[in-house]
Amino acid sequence: MEAARRANMSANGHRNPPGPKGLPIMGMALSLRKDPLAGMRQMARDYGDIVRFEVMGQERILLNRPDLINQVLVIQHGKFHKSELTRRITRRMLGQGLLISEGEFWRRQRRLAQPAFHRSRTNDYAATMLEIAQVHIRDWRDGEERNIAQEMTGLTLDIAVRTLFGTTLPGEARQVGHAMTFLMRYSLRRQRLPFRIPEKWPTPANRRANRELEFIASLVYRIISERRAEGDSSQHNDLLALLMGAMDEDGSQMTPQQLHDETMTLFLAGHETTAQMLGWTWYALSQNPAVESRLHEELHGVLGGRPPEAADFPRLPYLQAVMSEVLRLYPPAYILARETVEPCEIGGYQLRVGSTVVLSQWIMHRDSRYYDDSEAFRPERWLDGLADRLPPGAYFPFGDGPRRCIGQGFALLEAAIVTATIAQKFSFRMVPGHPVVPEPLVTLRPRHGIQMTLHARA
Ligand code: HEM
Repeated sequence: MEAARRANMSANGHRNPPGPKGLPIMGMALSLRKDPLAGMRQMARDYGDIVRFEVMGQERILLNRPDLINQVLVIQHGKFHKSELTRRITRRMLGQGLLISEGEFWRRQRRLAQPAFHRSRTNDYAATMLEIAQVHIRDWRDGEERNIAQEMTGLTLDIAVRTLFGTTLPGEARQVGHAMTFLMRYSLRRQRLPFRIPEKWPTPANRRANRELEFIASLVYRIISERRAEGDSSQHNDLLALLMGAMDEDGSQMTPQQLHDETMTLFLAGHETTAQMLGWTWYALSQNPAVESRLHEELHGVLGGRPPEAADFPRLPYLQAVMSEVLRLYPPAYILARETVEPCEIGGYQLRVGSTVVLSQWIMHRDSRYYDDSEAFRPERWLDGLADRLPPGAYFPFGDGPRRCIGQGFALLEAAIVTATIAQKFSFRMVPGHPVVPEPLVTLRPRHGIQMTLHARA
């Protein structure tokens, strides 16, 4: 009894939350590696709302209750920073970009970038999004098979390049996309190796990563200096122009380095997440024909076959419910991590400085205490005010508090335009036997893609 009591105490005498012991040294690394989503849910089931576990000697605290999540993201947000793990994966690509910067630096950058994401600005991109979606499906034919996850990545990549850089990059757009995709895989692979090879060593992967980083950086710097030379960037209607024109209260603007880091951040944070959301949308619709029919009816009733515009969305509540439900069951950002920078109390436990706190949308969004029939894809649940009834912290596909996603409106507009455009022309059915397995990488991806047959709609 005494030993058990002591086992639950930390070195400084604080009481530890309950949790699995795991293996010596590795802790829970092995079981989480096999299937991190199932592993974390199992811990939540076995140990409850606040669980302590270790991975390679490092402590993690998993929070599984809305009010605890709300404490971290909103109420006590100042006591937390982004986790070292998040920074390590993305630092080389994103530098001091919004996603991982902190403190006064982050506040200034957010202040400068925020107007670019105002609804009136975002709606300006609807026409570009529509045009790209239309061009993308021009060659699609009835009866053919396509990997829809891959198609959605290509589509959102084009939208990201065009909305960030306008038409300045027609030739290089694909190359930027390939470079970004390589860098993301590279960063993640490095993270998963048991022994990290220093970035400076001239391995083929390190050398390619350097080349790709230099390629993108020189491109971004070139565009910035060309626009500076033009003197007036107002003729460019893209996010880069807005960031370049943004001015702080003291008249200061972003340096080329800051513009580079923010551009990379918007690119990375924006296109991959939205691509996954769209891929999961087609999968969920294919599995739920009644939902698909109701969506088609709504689109037909409101749009009558014409292309969608931003102004249509308030009149498409079922489309919005479908998107909310996709983000509930398949949240592209399925986990958030924070590190304590001040001691704090969460759920009756004292967390010391440097503790890593883990919050998972995957777990919370499937918790049957907050969602009836929680594993079922039922957009209807959102039509009777569920969003207002849920406690803060129960649904957070875009995070919450001051670090909430700056691109939420942009992403929802993009997903709505693309879904409404494509759903009017095609429906999709899974190729029989193709396995669809959610894989938690940087975002929640389908491990083997989503292989589907296209059916042209009359
Ligand atoms: C479905 C699509 C998207 C999802 C699910 C998503 C999710 C998230 C989440 C959960 C966060 C908070 C991260 C944290 O608290 O640690 C975040 C932050 C962020 N997102 Fe998104 N995002 C999406 C689309 C976008 C788009 C389209 C953009 C830009 C064009 C964008 C740019 C950002 C940026 C810059 C941040 C950091 C904000 C800050 O810390 O100030 N995201 N996103």
